[in-house]
Amino acid sequence: MSAVEKYIEARLNERRLSGAYRTLKVENNLVDFCSNDYLGFARSPVLKSKIDDEVNKYTSALNGATGSRLISGNLTYTENLERDIATFHNSEAGLLFNSGYDANVGLFSSLPQRGDTIITDELIHASVIDGARLSYANRYTFKHYDLNSLEAKLKLSSGKCYVAIESVYSMDGDTPPLAEILEVTEKYNAYLIVDEAHAVGLYKNGLACHLKLENRVFARIITFGKALGCHGAIVLGSNSLREYLINFARSFIYTTAAPFHQLAAVKMAYELLKESDNTINLLKNNIRLFKETVTKNANYPLINSESSIQCVLLKSNEKAKATAAQLQDCGLDVRAIRSPTVQQGGERVRICLHAYNTEKEITLLTTTLNKLIND
Ligand SMILES: Cc1ncc(COP(=O)(O)O)c(C=O)c1O
Repeated sequence: MSAVEKYIEARLNERRLSGAYRTLKVENNLVDFCSNDYLGFARSPVLKSKIDDEVNKYTSALNGATGSRLISGNLTYTENLERDIATFHNSEAGLLFNSGYDANVGLFSSLPQRGDTIITDELIHASVIDGARLSYANRYTFKHYDLNSLEAKLKLSSGKCYVAIESVYSMDGDTPPLAEILEVTEKYNAYLIVDEAHAVGLYKNGLACHLKLENRVFARIITFGKALGCHGAIVLGSNSLREYLINFARSFIYTTAAPFHQLAAVKMAYELLKESDNTINLLKNNIRLFKETVTKNANYPLINSESSIQCVLLKSNEKAKATAAQLQDCGLDVRAIRSPTVQQGGERVRICLHAYNTEKEITLLTTTLNKLIND
């Protein structure tokens, strides 16, 4: 075995021993309590036929983008879509990226410079961390939602300071006190960047718009792979931020643009979202039903969340895996979230609720969970 093969085997063994070994699974017939398809757009026949109609309208559209946006992959359609999405989220401008991961990496690696500061909530998504790591700026984290901790880090900051939070946290489902965070960041002239990946849909055009705070947020990241049921993302901000990212964000510059059918899918998903108040209400009702029927128990603390993402903390990889397996045995697709995806001690089962989950499915989920909790 070569040195590198030995290294690979040793690292994989470490993962197996810590109960954190990752494997890919294909689709199944279980009830979906794990996907990000909160409004059911990914499986919507209505959206499917809207996309088909839109694609068929553009008979000369190419199958692939043929190049990056800066070379041959930019279309009038792309730029119109960016403007429409920016308008929907009440932003001056927006720039599409091929994924939310690319958007965060592009923004955080290109904007903050040596001598500047990036402060992130300790639970911020990996894509923000990776982008920040690629920059030469100083980096700090603050305790989740802790305004004193944030202020302490703001006092240490130098240069231009960027503070990054999520509006619904991907692994916890909770929502930050956006107005208070803005007050603190503004006191220190810092720029707030909000990742709205899991908030769009539930809060239609995002939490910042829902709270009418969008004009005080420096930049927002919207992803299309969650409630919008598609793929891709946009960074929302000023016209000059858009121009800056076109010039400096390497995950925008050095990659093939999204193909036309992806853009058409995103455009139609936004059309559907505009008329989805009933679907959003179904989702809200399902969240309410889950919260009303699940037992609260000190041994199985439920993370405080009003969103589609609900978590039961189990505090070990083994317990999280075993609980998820028991729920799966009952036909419910609930997944364990283990360390190192979450911090050690934060291992959990993460339950994603959807507009299309039925009352019967949610009741089966909560009665099964309650039984496991009480046993
Ligand atoms: C908060 C957050 N930001 C960004 C991303 C990345 O988005 P995408 O899946 O489009 O790459 C995710 C998804 O995992 C996320 O949860």
